Order: sequence, then structure tokens, then C-alpha cells
Amino acid sequence: MDEKLIKQLINTAIKQLDFSYAPYSGFKVGAALLSKNGDIYTGCNIENAAYTPSNCAERTAFFKAVSEGNKDFDAIAIVGGKDGILTSYAAPCGVCRQVMMEFCDPKTFQIILATEAEKYDVFTLEELLPLGFGSNNLA
Ligand code: THU
Repeated sequence: MDEKLIKQLINTAIKQLDFSYAPYSGFKVGAALLSKNGDIYTGCNIENAAYTPSNCAERTAFFKAVSEGNKDFDAIAIVGGKDGILTSYAAPCGVCRQVMMEFCDPKTFQIILATEAEKYDVFTLEELLPLGFGSNNLA
């Protein structure tokens, strides 16, 4: 993937930290989801006093895209940390990996984990969700 585009996605994800609604955990997460047509969908985590209705940043981005008719994706950048301070990678939770599995090719979809635009690693979905269960299993 083009390095300039990776950095753009990371910086877009970092901007989402300002919108994170995380009054209970204090852990802010931002995401930037790149669709195949070049559109970027953003997301932040949104917590709730009843806890279980909370939504992760990644799923916010995916659901925004799908709800607008876009289901084809190339990559997602994810950043997160306590009070929005990025000290280590915020890897996607298992539920978010499963949502990615629904819409993305596990062999090619790129998951960019970063602490800053210059410091990142790129994983495929298959690396983070080996032997993932998907629609093929039901075919
Ligand atoms: N969180 C995300 O937004 N994405 C993840 O993949 C991991 C966790 C959020 C959920 C919750 O608001 C906070 O981080 C602490 O778990």
C-alpha cells in the first residue's frame, strides 16, 4: 500500500480521537476505513452508561459505510489509548475482527495499527483472525 495513503489514514484516525465518547473507560479509539473507491469512512468508540450498547471505533466506521451502500474495503487504520494518548497499538477486538470478516477478503484486507503517522505496522485480516468463520462456511 502507498505510504502516503497509509499516513493519511493514520492521521485521519488520530483526528477521530477528538470525537471519541468514552466517559467510562477513558480509552479513546479512532479509525479510518478506506473503501475500494477511495472514500474514507471515519469512526470513534461510543460508550454507554449501560456498558453493553457501547460501540467500537472500527464498527462505527464499518456501519457508517455499509449504511451508505459501500461494502468494498481495502484497509483500516486504528489508533487508541487511555485519555487519547497513543503509547501502544490498539488492536481490534474479536467482535470487530468478525465484522471485518463479513465484508473483507481476509487475505488482502490491511489493518494498520499505529501510534503516530511514522510508527505503524500493517497486518492482513487473516493474520489477526486465522481460520475466521465467514459466509463461505455457510455456502
Ligand atoms: N474499543 C474500540 O473502540 N475498538 C477496539 O477494537 C477495542 C476497544 C473501545 C471500546 C471501549 O469504548 C474502549 O475501547 C475500552 O474497551
